[in-house]
Amino acid sequence: MSQPTIESILQEKRLFPPSAEFSQNAQIKSLEEYQHLYDKAKADPEAFWDQLAKSELHWFQKWDKVLDWQPPFAKWFVNGKINISYNCLDRHLTTWRKNKAAIIWEGEPGDSRTLTYAQLHREVCQFANVLKSLGVKKGDKVGVYMPMIPEAAVAMLACARIGAVHSVVFGGFSAEALRDRLIDGQAKLVITADGGWRKDAIVGLKPQVDKALEAGAVPSVENVLVVQRTKQEVNMQEGRDHWWHELQQKASADCPAEPMDSEDMLFILYTSGSTGKPKGVVHSTGGYNLYTHMTTKWIFDLNDTDVYWCTADVGWITGHSYIVYGPLSNGATTVMYEGAPRGSNPGCFWDVIEKYGVTVFYTAPTAIRAFIKMGEQHPNARDLSSLRLLGTVGEPINPEAWMWYHKVIGGERCPIVDTWWQTETGGIMITPLPGAIASKPGSATRPFPGILADIVDLDGNPAGDNEGGYLVVKHPWPSMMRTVYGDDDRFRRTYWEHIAPKDGKYVYFAGDGARRDEDGYFWVMGRVDDVLNVSGHRLGTMEVESALVSHPAVAEAAVVGKPDELKGEEVVAFVTLEGTYQGSDELSKELKSHVVKEIGAIARPGEIRFTDALPKTRSGKIMRRLLRNLAAGQEVSGDTSTLEDRSVLDKLREGT
Ligand code: PRX
Repeated sequence: MSQPTIESILQEKRLFPPSAEFSQNAQIKSLEEYQHLYDKAKADPEAFWDQLAKSELHWFQKWDKVLDWQPPFAKWFVNGKINISYNCLDRHLTTWRKNKAAIIWEGEPGDSRTLTYAQLHREVCQFANVLKSLGVKKGDKVGVYMPMIPEAAVAMLACARIGAVHSVVFGGFSAEALRDRLIDGQAKLVITADGGWRKDAIVGLKPQVDKALEAGAVPSVENVLVVQRTKQEVNMQEGRDHWWHELQQKASADCPAEPMDSEDMLFILYTSGSTGKPKGVVHSTGGYNLYTHMTTKWIFDLNDTDVYWCTADVGWITGHSYIVYGPLSNGATTVMYEGAPRGSNPGCFWDVIEKYGVTVFYTAPTAIRAFIKMGEQHPNARDLSSLRLLGTVGEPINPEAWMWYHKVIGGERCPIVDTWWQTETGGIMITPLPGAIASKPGSATRPFPGILADIVDLDGNPAGDNEGGYLVVKHPWPSMMRTVYGDDDRFRRTYWEHIAPKDGKYVYFAGDGARRDEDGYFWVMGRVDDVLNVSGHRLGTMEVESALVSHPAVAEAAVVGKPDELKGEEVVAFVTLEGTYQGSDELSKELKSHVVKEIGAIARPGEIRFTDALPKTRSGKIMRRLLRNLAAGQEVSGDTSTLEDRSVLDKLREGT
C-alpha cells in the first residue's frame, strides 16, 4: 500500500454521498443547509457565533462583545463568564441525562467502568476539592501525566471547574520531555498514576515523574497526586506525594463551578514545530467550549442514542476536544479505551465496538493501515452493525485505506468524515458534515461553517483549482490558539508572518500544503515545514536532532522523514560522529534508545545512517531536500548547484 501522491489523489474522483436515510436523521441534512450555514457565517461570522453561543451553552454572564480582533490576538465573547466543567456536567443533571452514561471506560486487561453524568459530576467535584486542599488556585498550572483512565478526564474537568490550567503531557513521553514541559508551564502540581497499560505491558508513570522532578529540577511543583492503577510498588515521597484515592475519599462533593472569564486560559498543550523546543499552545475557555461543542454536534452528528468512541489518547488535542470536552458538553456517551492496536490482540478495537454497540467511531489512518495488515477476518468476525458514522484524523488518508474502512468497517453504509485540524486550531476545521457533503476518498472536503479557509501563495494570492499552495485561515475562529505560552512573539512569527498578503491583513498559516479541486474540495497534502507526522503524531526534526547531538558520540545530526506504509512517515537520521567513534549496529541501537530516553518511543528513529559529512550549502545550511530523497531511495531531484561539496552527496549515495 502506498502513501497518497498528488497525482493519485487528483485522479480520485469517486463520490460517496450519504444515504437518504442518514441525511434525513442528521443534524445538517443537505448540501443546501450546509451552504446556507456557511454563507451566513461568512457574511457575518460574529452574528453566527453570537447566536450559537446563546443557544448552545450556559453562561453565568453574557458577553459585551463577540470578537475583539487585534491581529494576531483574538478575544472571543469579551467579558462573558462561563465554566466548561459546568457545561459538560452540571447542566445535564437537571435533565434525564443525569443517569445517562457519560464515560464508558474499557481498560486493560479486561477491566471496565461506566460513569453516569451524576457520578462523573461527583468525582469531579470531590477531586476539585482535593486540588483546592493542596493549595491549587485559579490560574495555577497543573501537569497531568496519565494513562487512559477516567481519572484523566476527571482531573481535566476538576482543573477547569476551579479555574486551574491543565497541561496534559502524553504518558508515552519520557521523563526528560515531561520535565521540559513542567518547567515551561510552571506546574504547581502533577497528577499521575503508578503505571498504565501500554499494549501488553505495564509501564511505570510515577517513576518517570520522580525522574523528571529529581534534584529539584522543577521547583514550581509542590505536590504529586498518584492514582493507583497498576498497583506495583512505587516510591512515595513524604510530604510531596499523595494517593488520589485517599484524598478523594475524604473530600466533599460540594464544589460549585467557578465563573471564569471567557478568555481565561483553559489549558496548555505542547506541540512540535519546525524550530526550537515544543511550543505551549494556549487555549482559552469560552470560544473553545463553543467551537468544540458545535463541531462535535454537527460533524459527529450526535444524538442521545449514540455511543461515541474516539480512539485518541487524552495526551493529544484530539483527546481533549473529542473525547472529553466536545462530547460531554453535548451530553453524549463517550468511550475511553486504554488499549492500542497490536498484533497480539488484532480484534481489540472491534471487540470494543461490539461490546458497547458503538455507533460513531473516530480513529487515525495509521490505525486503519495497521488493521488492514492484520487482516479483515478480525473485524469480519465481530458484529459491527451498530456503526453508523466513521471518522479519521491526524494525517492524509490514502484512498486504499479509506475504501477498506468504508467497506470492511462501515459495511458501505457509514459516511466517513475525514477531519483536518491541528492542536492550534482547537477543533475540526475542514470536514464533511456527514448528512450534507458527499465524500471523496482522501479529501477532507469543505470548511466548517465560520471557517474561512483558503489556499494561497506566499503573497497571499489565492491558488487556482488544483494548483496547490499553502493552507491558510483568513478570519479568526472561536477555538483558535491564543498564543504560545509565555512567548507572544513566537506565536506571531510562527503562524502569522509566513504569508504576507499585500493588503496587510493577517492570515493564519497552518504549516500544511493543500489543493482545492474544481468542486471546492480541499485535499491536504501534509506539512511543508520541518515537522514530521509519524503515526499521526507530530514531531519536529529539530527536536530529534537535539536529542541525538546530546549523545557524546554525535557531532552533527540531520533528521528527515521517509514515507512509510504503516506510520505515514518514519524518522531517518543522518549522523556524523565525534573524533574516534565508529558507526556500528551497536551504536545505532544506542542512539535510537537515547532518542527514546530524551523524547519518548514515538520519536525512535527507524534508521540511523552514519556519514562523514552532511550535504550543506555554501552558507552552511543542511540541504534536507537531498537527504529526504536519499532516505526515500529516490534520485536526488532539483537544483544541487548550491551544494558546497558535491563529493559528500556522492559518498552518501554510495552508502545507500
Ligand atoms: O499536517 C496536518 C495533519 O496533522 C497536523 C496537526 O497535527 P496535530 O497538531 O498533532 O493534531 C493532530 C490531530 C488534530 C496538521 O497540520 N493532519 C491532521 N488531520 C489531518 C491532517 N492531514 C491531512 N488530513 C487530515 N485529516
